[in-house]
Amino acid sequence: MHTYVLNDGNSIPAVGFGVFEVPADGTTYQAVRRALDAGYRHIDTAAAYNNEAEVGRAIRDSGIPREDIFVTSKLWIQDYGLKKAGLAIRLSLAKLGLDYLDLYLLHQPYFDVQGSWLALEKARDEGLVRSLGVSNFTARLWQEHIPRFATVPCLNQVEFHPFFQQRDLRPLLEAQGVLLAAWSPLGHGMRELLTHPLICDMAARYHREPAQIILRFELQEGCVVLPKSTNPAHMASNLALFDFGLNDRDMEALRSLDTNHGTRDPEEPGRAEYLLAKYHVRSLA
Ligand code: A2P
Repeated sequence: MHTYVLNDGNSIPAVGFGVFEVPADGTTYQAVRRALDAGYRHIDTAAAYNNEAEVGRAIRDSGIPREDIFVTSKLWIQDYGLKKAGLAIRLSLAKLGLDYLDLYLLHQPYFDVQGSWLALEKARDEGLVRSLGVSNFTARLWQEHIPRFATVPCLNQVEFHPFFQQRDLRPLLEAQGVLLAAWSPLGHGMRELLTHPLICDMAARYHREPAQIILRFELQEGCVVLPKSTNPAHMASNLALFDFGLNDRDMEALRSLDTNHGTRDPEEPGRAEYLLAKYHVRSLA
């Protein structure tokens, strides 16, 4: 598995398996077991997904040594603030049945960002979390909050795909050695992307699937990719990205697909309140 080195010296596998909105009715358990069998060694969950218990059970039942699997979770906004965040990190670990997380993120850039970040730094110092990062921070929110952090985040997980290439944010991250992790790297399986003529033409020329062209492009742009799939054939092909490379001309052509617009705008008025009302982290069952 190919890895990147984070700015704190730890390593992260370049491809992770995402479980956003995968139900905790056995589906998450089965998906993570299948992903681990297929060779994934990086699982991306979050408190707000309410499926951490199934992720943890799948990891334990896989028989793969804990240190061989990179596990990410995220703090939900209902638990922001120094004190609440400290408890929430412990609740995530209890649900997962793990002693530590490889990476822990502030899931959203709202409410008490500073106090919550302090709680993450404390958890890292206590050995509960190895690396720290954020998610959904736009260029403006990055510039507002990060200069006040004692620790520069390792990573910012944001929407990224050929139609939305984060051109404002990326120079800021690059300047501080911060990785971009791509959520929705396949644009949520959007037909316009997966059937785009340019991408289909490349798929034919490289003898690959359109999804592999897209993910390979994102890797060559230096991103961590977190494709989501419950289809075993897609899970396998989304990991088979390291025995081919896109040439400079094709990379340039894919860059030209950028519209500079995503499907969600973290700066939209009312977004914080909408998310707070939409997702609620359940207590330990
Ligand atoms: P499926 O579960 O049937 O594979 P994203 O990761 O950008 O959110 O996209 C997820 C969507 O993309 C899911 O609907 C998933 O459907 C689909 N998808 C994942 N991998 C592939 C692939 N290799 N080819 C086509 N569609 C895919």
